[in-house]
Amino acid sequence: MSTDVRPSPAGGLRARRARLTARVGPLPGSVRRLLDNRLVEGLTTPHGVSRYLEAVHPLWTLEGGRALVTEVYRETPDMTTITLRPDQSWQGFVAGQHVRIGVQIDGALRTRTYSVSSSQHRADGHLTITVKRKEGGLVSGHLASEVRPGQALACSPATGDVVLPDPRPDRLVLISGGSGITPMASMLRTLADEGHRGRVTFLHYARTRADVAFAADLERIAERMPHAQVVIVTTGPGERGPLTGRFVPAHLHNLVPDHLEVPTFACGPTGLVDAVEAHYETLGGVEQLQVERFTPPVLQTSAEPGDGTIRFATSGIERSDDGRSLLEQAEDEGLAPESGCRMGICRTCTQHKVAGGTVDLRNGRRSDAPEEQVQICVSVAAGDVILDL
Ligand code: FES
Repeated sequence: MSTDVRPSPAGGLRARRARLTARVGPLPGSVRRLLDNRLVEGLTTPHGVSRYLEAVHPLWTLEGGRALVTEVYRETPDMTTITLRPDQSWQGFVAGQHVRIGVQIDGALRTRTYSVSSSQHRADGHLTITVKRKEGGLVSGHLASEVRPGQALACSPATGDVVLPDPRPDRLVLISGGSGITPMASMLRTLADEGHRGRVTFLHYARTRADVAFAADLERIAERMPHAQVVIVTTGPGERGPLTGRFVPAHLHNLVPDHLEVPTFACGPTGLVDAVEAHYETLGGVEQLQVERFTPPVLQTSAEPGDGTIRFATSGIERSDDGRSLLEQAEDEGLAPESGCRMGICRTCTQHKVAGGTVDLRNGRRSDAPEEQVQICVSVAAGDVILDL
């Protein structure tokens, strides 16, 4: 069941401001050019021009990189779609790409990476992200429960190489599980908007049908596209249907007998993506397969707290290493380095290491090289380390 999440009438002033904000367009280019000069910047010191513009409208900054929330919609009990109107700096996206979203929580900017779930051809130029609420997830919980229309979020340019091929292939297989449905939905919606007439098979795994985001929309798309097939596989105990249970190669053999020769995308939890990858590798079709995992790879964590010292040189903070990731320890000290996936995928957390040793938890590799870039969400200190943070 879906529920609209809208500002309550009691929201009063905040709701009125949100409505006004939604109506006001982007900062006119002529005004931006007028304000973007040293004299005006000097007159507005110490806050800068953008700080004053923001007070008028949350998207009016000179730097860009923001998006206004225009709608919040509950897709399933734990998945929420947020519609965003990006500012003038937005360059668009290609279906399959993701954006880094930033939100202020308790005075600190917290960022996470989300796939775009909408078509790249939306007539209004808006985009959607669909956030799955994680158990104890600070940012996902905040986005799902606290964010309202009229609020501005930080929004990075779209990135990611696992995208809908151009030119479009005649045949395509899309496989997803859980929140991995978001980039696949973007691809299917994009193809539907293009009037694509090729054969597309979309296989999605969810615990129950109630857990499937966009279910009604995907059904409508399948009706509009003459050769598209959307198949939901439920994996929960006691589920009934034509296909149930976790991924097995027979699912693909039945639906697309020659799938090893068809461009295939898989996105979702590691277990699903690993199983699909193993199947394509074993039978020799891996060059057709592109994958993206939504859950962290298995990390080798250090059993004992480290015995070194971590120095955050820019902040002048030094602490004894407790063995956790450099990101967690920086946050413990009240620092707010940018982060996204927190699992070594998006590279948002990359920081400059001045000196010292680090171990990459993904592969156990140690580096003592000075002056290198380190992904601090998946790195621990090996002895003393100095970060430019
Ligand atoms: S936060 Fe994504 S790689 Fe570290």
